[in-house]
Order: sequence, then C-alpha cells, then structure tokens
Amino acid sequence: MRAVSEPKSYFVKTFGCQMNVYDSERMGELMEANGHSVAASAEDADIVILNTCHIREKASEKVYSEIGRLKKRAGAKPLVAVAGCVAQAEGDEIVRRAPAVDVVVGPQAYHKLPGLIARAAEKPVETGLPTLEKFAALGPRRRAVPSSFLTIQEGCDKFCTYCVVPYTRGAEVSRPADTVLEEARRLADAGAREIVLLGQNVNAYRHSGVGFADLIGRVAAIDGIARIRYMTSHPADMNDELIAAHGEISELMPFLHLPVQSGSDRILKAMNRSHTADSYLETLTKLRAVRPDIAISGDFIVGFPGETDADFAATLEIVRATGYAQAYSFKYSARPGTPAAAMADQIGDAVMAERLHQLQALINEQQLAFNARAVGASVDVLLERPGKRLGQLIGKTPWLQSVHLDAVGAVAGDVVRTRITAALPNSLAGVREIAEAA
Ligand code: SAH
Ligand code: SF4
Ligand code: F3S
Repeated sequence: MRAVSEPKSYFVKTFGCQMNVYDSERMGELMEANGHSVAASAEDADIVILNTCHIREKASEKVYSEIGRLKKRAGAKPLVAVAGCVAQAEGDEIVRRAPAVDVVVGPQAYHKLPGLIARAAEKPVETGLPTLEKFAALGPRRRAVPSSFLTIQEGCDKFCTYCVVPYTRGAEVSRPADTVLEEARRLADAGAREIVLLGQNVNAYRHSGVGFADLIGRVAAIDGIARIRYMTSHPADMNDELIAAHGEISELMPFLHLPVQSGSDRILKAMNRSHTADSYLETLTKLRAVRPDIAISGDFIVGFPGETDADFAATLEIVRATGYAQAYSFKYSARPGTPAAAMADQIGDAVMAERLHQLQALINEQQLAFNARAVGASVDVLLERPGKRLGQLIGKTPWLQSVHLDAVGAVAGDVVRTRITAALPNSLAGVREIAEAA
C-alpha cells in the first residue's frame, strides 16, 4: 500500500443494484473533483473502489475473490477501498478477513472517501448512517448519460424478513424536493433526456408535503427531460395518486418494476410483505385502466423457508395472471441477522433449483411473447450508446426493451422513430423511420 496524496488513477467496480450504480457515478465525480483520473480498468488503476452488494450470499462473497485477484496483480499493488453494502454489513470484519484492504466505507459515508484514502495507512473503517449528509457534501453533478439515475430516497423501513437492505442502507429517508429538482436540472443540462428516480422504496417518497406523484410532475416539467422512470417500488405504496400519474404525465414511461416476490399469501405474510396476491393484481388492474399499454416487471424469490409445492404453484399462477414483460428470479439466500435465516423448514438447494428452472422458463416465455408483439410497430427509441457495428446504436423503447438499429446521423441522446423488425429474447432489432418530406 502506498500513501495517496498526489493525483492517481482510480477505477470503481460496481456490484448490485441501480442505487450502487448511482453511488459509483458519484464516487467517480468525487475522485475527479479531487484531481484523480479514471483508469481504463481495475487492472491498471492505482486506486480500486469495490462498490459491493450484500443481498445474496453469492453477491457478497464476490468481493473477497475480487480483493484476492487485485492484490495478486503483477507490479505495484493498488490501494483497495471496499464500499457499498458489504462494507456496511461487515465493517471491521472485512479488514480482519482480508488484511490487504486499505479502506472500508459504507453507502452513506462515501463522501468522505478522499479523506479516508489519504489516511489509508490507518486502514480506516467508516460506516456511519446519517443518510442525507452525503448528498449535501457531494456538490453538483458534473456529467450525465442519456438515461441518468437520480437517487431521491435511501434506506428501507419495510423489514421483509429475508432482506438485508434495512440494515445496510439504514432507515427510509427522502431527499428534499428542491435538491432533487436541482440535480435533475443539472443532469438535463449535461445531456440527460431520461431521469430514472431511484430508491429502495422509491414510491414511498415524501418530503415536507411533496409526495411522489407530485415530484414526478415537477421533474417532467424540466426542459430537456423527455422520459421519467422509477424503481424500485413496493406494491403497498402504489397509491391512487401515483396510479393516476401514469395516465396523466406523458413523460412517465409505460413500464413499472413492481416486485411481488411470491404468489402465496401464506409466504407473503411470512416474508412480512404487507400485500397479498389479490391486492397486487388489483393494483395492476387499476394501472392498466389508466395506462392500458403499461408493461410490468417483477422480482421473485423461490424456496423461502416453508415454501410448499402449493405455495410455489401459486407463484406460477400470479406470473400467468400478470403477464410479465420481464422479471428477475432468485433462489432464497439465508442472510445473517435476518429473521428468515432463523426460520424452520429451510428449503434444500435441489428443490430451489427445480422451482427456479420452472419459474424462469415461464418468465422467458412471457418475455419472448412480449418482445414478439412489438414486431412491426413504430416506436420512439431513446438512443443511449453506440452498438458493436459502425453506425449502429442501442436505445430503449418506452417499455424498456433494448433496440439495436442503424441510425446514421443520429447520436446518443436523440429520440428516433423506429420500426421494429425482429424480436430476440433480450432485445429487438429495428430500422429508423425517416419522415418523407412532403
Ligand atoms: N426494494 C426492493 C428490492 C430490493 S432487493 C423491493 O422491495 O422489491 C432486490 C431483490 O432481491 C428483491 O426484490 C428480492 O427479490 C431479492 N432478494 C432480496 N433478499 C433476498 C434473499 N435473501 N435471497 C434471495 N433473493 C433476495
Ligand atoms: Fe428489502 Fe423489503 Fe425493503 Fe425491498 S421492501 S429493500 S425487499 S426490506
Ligand atoms: Fe445490494 Fe445494497 Fe443494492 S445489498 S441490492 S447493493 S441496496
């Protein structure tokens, strides 16, 4: 380990959810504001920041193999900082288990990163949870991408019995609306066309009387913002005002990630989810009444303790009843300190694997059918980045499908009318439609 006071190169490697992607972006801005410059990869950086995820055992173990790899690197060893949710959950334990780690910093303390790096010789561990402090300390946004993330709410008070997030991110706190709007304006000025409002429980957003639907309306009014999305939402917080916003605010895209986790009310109760299969489906009915083309995405856990074949059948049933555009599904992973880890009837891996296989087959079938229905349609695509071939760009439909198209003369950030020509399981192909001059 070397002391870092002069400018160095850095690289942030991100694991986990969109909130971590946002945090990594902000850590990058902070490092650059302190004179450091981004390296092409972790392999040639002087400082490597691992922004980690603790959600499942596999995610959390990845960090230790990463540290091992970095410290075995030929030549000068990098300074390694462990940030994110593993840092929060394991704290000092990380340095005990991996003595090569130089800095440990939790998700609410990374604004202190430059100071911690300067004191790396002391192996500082900073895991305080004063949630909004970092936003005030970070300074204005410096750069944007066409679809930019903006964290408006942090932490979670729901305490689903399987989940570590309330412990790694702290209590649910919303940012003041004026600071959110200021950040959104900066992002728009720097080239963002789409803002994705983020929070562990984003639809519970409320600050000084400003509710979430109200906030969406205010972001939509910002010049240059063509599209708004948000994630992740809890079904219990899909109130009537927010549902109505889906029918009223044209910038709000017709796509909603609304995790249900299970279709069995018995399991939902054991998970402490506070919604039922029926209340979830009723919410979807209301959403479809105001926005008939809304596409739904979800998250599922199979093999929660005590899950029977009948409970799992109810999960397949709710998938059929919903018709997902896409969905993520996971084997239950017992996490230290969560109530579910101590429950009886933990399910064996073979049963979980079989259930996951069945669930994913059904979800894939629905996703493919959803994509196939787009073929022949003419849709607006927000171009986000260059594709592999010269002249090819990759963008997104309003329903969050990736589209590959040849769009000579167009650039990332443009919204172009596109005819969809083919559907693949995970993306679409299209051609740009050029309006004929009359
Ligand atoms: N706040 C979001 C999700 C956060 S975690 C929500 O409430 O939906 C993302 C997803 O990881 C969860 O939706 C859940 O499906 C999954 N997950 C969380 N804890 C898990 C665990 N212990 N084992 C397996 N999957 C888990
Ligand atoms: Fe975890 Fe539940 Fe909170 Fe989502 S709502 S972050 S699953 S505790
Ligand atoms: Fe993982 Fe933390 Fe996100 S545990 S899913 S990085 S909030």
